[in-house]
Amino acid sequence: MGMIGEDKILEIRGKSSIVEVVSDHLTLKKMGQNYVGLCPFHAENTPSFTVNEEKGIFHCFGCGVGGNIFSFLMQFEHLSFPEAVEKVAKRYGVQLDRLERPFAKNQRSDRLYRLNERAAAYFHKALSAHPEGKRALQYLKTRGIDERTSRRFYLGYAPSSGPGLAAFLQRDGWPLRDAVSIALVTDRGNDKYGDKFFGRLIFPIIDAGGKVTGFGGRTLGDGLPKYLNSAETPLFHKGAQLYGLFQAKEGIRSMDRVVVVEGYLDVLALSQAGLSWTVATMGTALTPDHVRLLRRYTKNVIALFDGDEAGRKAAARSFEIFVEGGLLGQAAFLPQGEDPDTFVRSRGRQALESVLEQAVPMADYYFTWLQGRHGANIEGKSQIAQEVSRVLAKVTSPFEVDLLSRRAAEFLGIREELLRHQPDKAGKAVTNQGQASPAAHSGRIPEDRAESSLVALMLRFPEVLRRLEKEEFLERIVHPGWKETLACILSEWRERGEVNLARLTLNLPPHQASALAALAIQGESIQENESRQMTEDCLLHLHLKYLKGLESDLCRAIRLAEEKMDEKARKERILEWQEVVQKERNLEQQRYTLRTGLR
Ligand code: CTP
Ligand code: MN
Repeated sequence: MGMIGEDKILEIRGKSSIVEVVSDHLTLKKMGQNYVGLCPFHAENTPSFTVNEEKGIFHCFGCGVGGNIFSFLMQFEHLSFPEAVEKVAKRYGVQLDRLERPFAKNQRSDRLYRLNERAAAYFHKALSAHPEGKRALQYLKTRGIDERTSRRFYLGYAPSSGPGLAAFLQRDGWPLRDAVSIALVTDRGNDKYGDKFFGRLIFPIIDAGGKVTGFGGRTLGDGLPKYLNSAETPLFHKGAQLYGLFQAKEGIRSMDRVVVVEGYLDVLALSQAGLSWTVATMGTALTPDHVRLLRRYTKNVIALFDGDEAGRKAAARSFEIFVEGGLLGQAAFLPQGEDPDTFVRSRGRQALESVLEQAVPMADYYFTWLQGRHGANIEGKSQIAQEVSRVLAKVTSPFEVDLLSRRAAEFLGIREELLRHQPDKAGKAVTNQGQASPAAHSGRIPEDRAESSLVALMLRFPEVLRRLEKEEFLERIVHPGWKETLACILSEWRERGEVNLARLTLNLPPHQASALAALAIQGESIQENESRQMTEDCLLHLHLKYLKGLESDLCRAIRLAEEKMDEKARKERILEWQEVVQKERNLEQQRYTLRTGLR
């Protein structure tokens, strides 16, 4: 949460209106206790985007986004948390101390960014002004890059003769130690410094906010290495940044899609051809961080691959990366031997557009690829099933798990249930060591409605909180997200005697905060006179489920003791088992009375 104190954030929350802030961006209409409008995060014709002023939250029933006033701005305007807080503070006239403002603590990185910008300006100027620049301009011409594109991407040239960048920066009064720390300049010892880039065409790497984070440099001929990039520095992280994002941002937003390619020149060529919504990984494979970055702009990410064997393999591997980054992704393939740059230059924009139109869902591609690799015999299928369930276990949205496992089952002719959890590890543990703990069942944990219902009840009725305060039920909650949420709610209640939804959503991970907002809005339909019975029913259900788990663990232990002929252990387990079964009977009796007696 950075430098802004929690009290300050709550002050800002208190003075602001989520309905007003959302209304800055879309039209809301009052409906009952809520305001509704067309969701800005997915395409829809009937409003399912819901805002609740009193609770300070929003939720879309269509696509599931939700959260508080800050998360709305973070998602809508692609801001960081401190930036969103600052924006709301400004709108409502809340003063932030200088120290609390975003980046204020980062004076050093501020300085480093300015230094990078200075270097970019130096390179850019050299392209037109340095005597060697002509060669670079000539090279750009042979690559078909026009002046407009060259300016749009702020291309530059690093001369190989003359005083060079290090000398220039020194004269300009920059501490060269800084230039070394961002890998612009190398320290040769004895107070001597040399340039990292010389005799190269320069591609400044600019982040979404317009800051220069690093550089790529290409030789003008066949020299090696063909490309030289900034090393990993405090500002530059190859695995989390994308070339061209700054220039592509508007296009991505208006087209609601993005094309991902591999190289600097591919981005330039596509952008020049009119496909400005193109970005590049810089020679590395796509990472989940790349996907997360793009997800802030659009859900429709098309990765463009070479048509050769390597490209197909890379595409198949990407599915897992996409899933980890939280998107499903699409794959499109160029004809063999072409890269995006050569293809668009020889065949034109239309041809490339039609390649993109033939993009396939990454999942389908992956399933087909697995089939080709493992074959359709029994061994092959079993391997495929294991591989698919391993990857599906990484999918975070339950809707997507559902969709993908059905799709995989359809594609591969494997029963869906087999794909939904990972059979191998947990299974082996039981047979090999004979003492798998109940927690050893890996894979996806199904959500139990009783768990989320308890959350909804607690948010709405203080008497439910008072009831649950006394009950040791947290260990019976299986879903880690709801467990954390319930624990947070209870500790809020104990410490402050009230539960503030805005504060809660600030302290939970975003997807959990969003699920919480959804529940709070859904929970409004619960009638006060139902709340007690519902609470007891949920508690009994969870307790019973917990005991059933214990019971089956004990049964297994009894069988094991029998196999080992350990009579003492067998007797002990049987006693424990009887106790558990007795408890189950009592609870079932209670539940029966509750359900019938109270009507
Ligand atoms: N790359 C790199 N270092 C290298 C080679 C490549 O960082 N030694 C990165 C660059 O970002 C480059 C991308 O990988 O743009 C693609 O590389 P490559 O396929 O070699 O690009 P080409 O299409 O061959 O490059 P060009 O069109 O410039 O000849
Ligand atoms: Mn190329």
